[in-house]
Amino acid sequence: MNGFLRQILFLPPQQSTIAYDLDWLHYLVILTTMAGAVLVTLFGGYYVVRYRRRLPEPDRPNVDAGARPHFLYKLGALVILATLFLVFWIIGVGQYMRIRVAPADSMVVYVTAKKWMWKFAYPEGARAIGTLYVPTGRPVELVMTSRDVIHSFFVPSFRIKQDVLPGRYTTLWFQAIEPGSYQILCAEYCGTGHSTMRGEVVALDPSDYARWLGGAAPAGPDIEAPRYEEPALGNPGAASPRSPLVLARVGERVAAEHGCLRCHTLDGSPHIGPTWAGLYRSIVPLERGGDVVADEAYLTESIMDPAAKIHRGFQPVMPSYLGRLDAPETAAIVELIRDLRDVRPEPGALTPGGQGSGGGGR
Ligand code: CUA
Repeated sequence: MNGFLRQILFLPPQQSTIAYDLDWLHYLVILTTMAGAVLVTLFGGYYVVRYRRRLPEPDRPNVDAGARPHFLYKLGALVILATLFLVFWIIGVGQYMRIRVAPADSMVVYVTAKKWMWKFAYPEGARAIGTLYVPTGRPVELVMTSRDVIHSFFVPSFRIKQDVLPGRYTTLWFQAIEPGSYQILCAEYCGTGHSTMRGEVVALDPSDYARWLGGAAPAGPDIEAPRYEEPALGNPGAASPRSPLVLARVGERVAAEHGCLRCHTLDGSPHIGPTWAGLYRSIVPLERGGDVVADEAYLTESIMDPAAKIHRGFQPVMPSYLGRLDAPETAAIVELIRDLRDVRPEPGALTPGGQGSGGGGR
């Protein structure tokens, strides 16, 4: 049944843990609408034949079926339709939440889109262009941004698609089921090279993946070793192929170079801005009231547009870093903050430390 429906709907094989369930809802909607169309056609055909014009025929009064049965039919149809849509909606909301919220044990890969390629950076420091290597059987969260225009990351076999925007981060997660190579397409028109903006996800056995990450090309003939280099970040330091540049350490350097550490601390001690220790995924109370989860979206928004959502109790002294940090630098800082998620801030560190001294600039 699944195979047959998948073929007549031209869907590629289901290769992620969510793909089958998403397709199942797809089938349910398609089959329901097809059944509806068949019913309407049959009834229509029946009435065409039953009430066709017969010649010769004397004048007859119009058929009067009475108002009541008509009303009940309409009400019945409405209830059936509303129930169906409600069922679709409830299943759909459940699936939406499932595909939006990455499992807590996901590994993270940073994705940068640009005309017309996909770049991948791993927290361990490995980088790849065009090919995203992942292990099977483990959830992978992608934290994505664009260097130029809007792109969209689309892996048909995984049934995942997400717009990738300049100046902010969007996320997506998947878990590959079996080793193999799966096509990545750009699904948002982004210029003359849009149709060539492709890549592939290569899912490897966890052991092969570990070997790939370790710098040794795994058994497969077409798999290249990861490149441990650092484009567009200047001052590479000692970046030999065997000493991976851990992204969080790059983040520390970027943060120091751009003056972030003059206001933010890494160990939880109070200062001019909120400490980065334990900040990631914590609940941040806002000056305007309400609160927000400090996820990638909030962190990058706060870097690019600091005044948008001020952490309660802090002064709005931070300048915007829009145009001052490029995508790899921003990703490195976000990774640094993620890396500090389990550093417990000292009590009171998330409220202002009382140093009113200026210097909030830069
Ligand atoms: Cu990138 Cu279309």
